Amino acid sequence: VTVPLRAAETTVRVELGARSYDIAIGRGLLSGLGHRIAALRPGATAAIVTDETVARHHLPSTEAAFAAAGLRTTRVIVPPGEASKSWPVLERVCNTLLTDRIERRDLVVALGGGVVGDLAGFAAAIVRRGLDYVQVPTSLLAQVDSSVGGKTAIDAPLGKNLIGAFHQPVLVIADTSLLDTLPVREFRSGYAEVAKYGLINDDSFFAWLTANWREVFAGGPAREHAIAVSCRAKAAIVARDERETGDRALLNLGHTFGHALEAAAGFSDRLLHGEAVALGMTLAFAFSARLGLTAPAEADRVTAHLAAVGLPTRVSEIPGERPSVGQLMELIAQDKKVERGRLTFILARGVGRSFVAPDVDAADVRAFLADKLAD
Ligand SMILES: NC(=O)c1ccc[n+]([C@@H]2O[C@H](COP(=O)([O-])OP(=O)(O)OC[C@H]3O[C@@H](n4cnc5c(N)ncnc54)[C@H](O)[C@@H]3O)[C@@H](O)[C@H]2O)c1
Ligand SMILES: [Zn+2]
Repeated sequence: VTVPLRAAETTVRVELGARSYDIAIGRGLLSGLGHRIAALRPGATAAIVTDETVARHHLPSTEAAFAAAGLRTTRVIVPPGEASKSWPVLERVCNTLLTDRIERRDLVVALGGGVVGDLAGFAAAIVRRGLDYVQVPTSLLAQVDSSVGGKTAIDAPLGKNLIGAFHQPVLVIADTSLLDTLPVREFRSGYAEVAKYGLINDDSFFAWLTANWREVFAGGPAREHAIAVSCRAKAAIVARDERETGDRALLNLGHTFGHALEAAAGFSDRLLHGEAVALGMTLAFAFSARLGLTAPAEADRVTAHLAAVGLPTRVSEIPGERPSVGQLMELIAQDKKVERGRLTFILARGVGRSFVAPDVDAADVRAFLADKLAD
């Protein structure tokens, strides 16, 4: 057993009044998790929810961290993958929490990627009318996106994330060393969401990423920096608009085109979520250029960086059958309220200058997609 040196740590505060909490970011933070929780909630039992893959890599060290602080743990291990965001798996998690006598003074610990975070967070929201929970995100996507902001959910046959609740965690611990075991394709996919924060409202961060993305992938201080900037960006947006009645929609940059492509690919490993978002952001900027909102050179910057990282930027890069314009338009309409042929999109006046465009002509989108699919 190696004991990591006391890690350098960055703290990002999510300001939500009585529901405020800290996100601690640093390499090696997991070993101190038990002591931190013992200080926060003396004598609590930690109910660890994780998936089989993450359990294999990181459950022993997580349990050891709690044992070192003298805290009791229980565990629920679910299969990896989106299919675990379902009623049967949720039922199993809830029943296990009850059987293990997890009560209001205890804590649920979500150890895993976005799937585990959404599932465990939702179970925590509903068991005994609400248990406190801690996010220990283990994928890049979870460290910069899903563990922050309190959205929890499972999927329904009609669509993803349709059954859920807003339930903020009491603490987020992002140990960046956990990402060392993440497959590089998953890391790259999560990186699309990192780049997204630059594209939304931080041109200088996007420029920094363009110069430093290799170090972010390699680990070390650049990775911590990128995660901290991302969490700060999301925390600021969530603090302004916790329940997505306005500004929080900016976080959906690239997600309207992205979701449609992801759905057309059957939510399979033909196209991971972040890969779809990379394509979606490329398309959102190209569409903004076509509408004359941004200079084409700005759209080119976006494409060039995402392609350099190895993310897809052309629809033709998706393996398998190419979706049709009609199919994509139908998926976009399903995702959105269409009012009199108008759609809401996140568009941009340049890198770092994204905005909510509530009145996009569906006919323009269709013509644009027809061009892009011919590419
Ligand atoms: N709540 C939110 O605000 C929010 C935001 C964005 C996405 N999401 C949700 O997040 C989910 C996607 O999250 P994800 O990309 O993390 O997927 P995931 O949880 O399925 O993780 C991806 C894969 O990586 C594996 N993995 C995770 N950490 C690992 C590690 N450290 N080492 C080795 N393997 C590891 C997992 O077992 C899984 O196979 C989706 O369900 C999406 O809806 C939620
Ligand atoms: Zn996303």
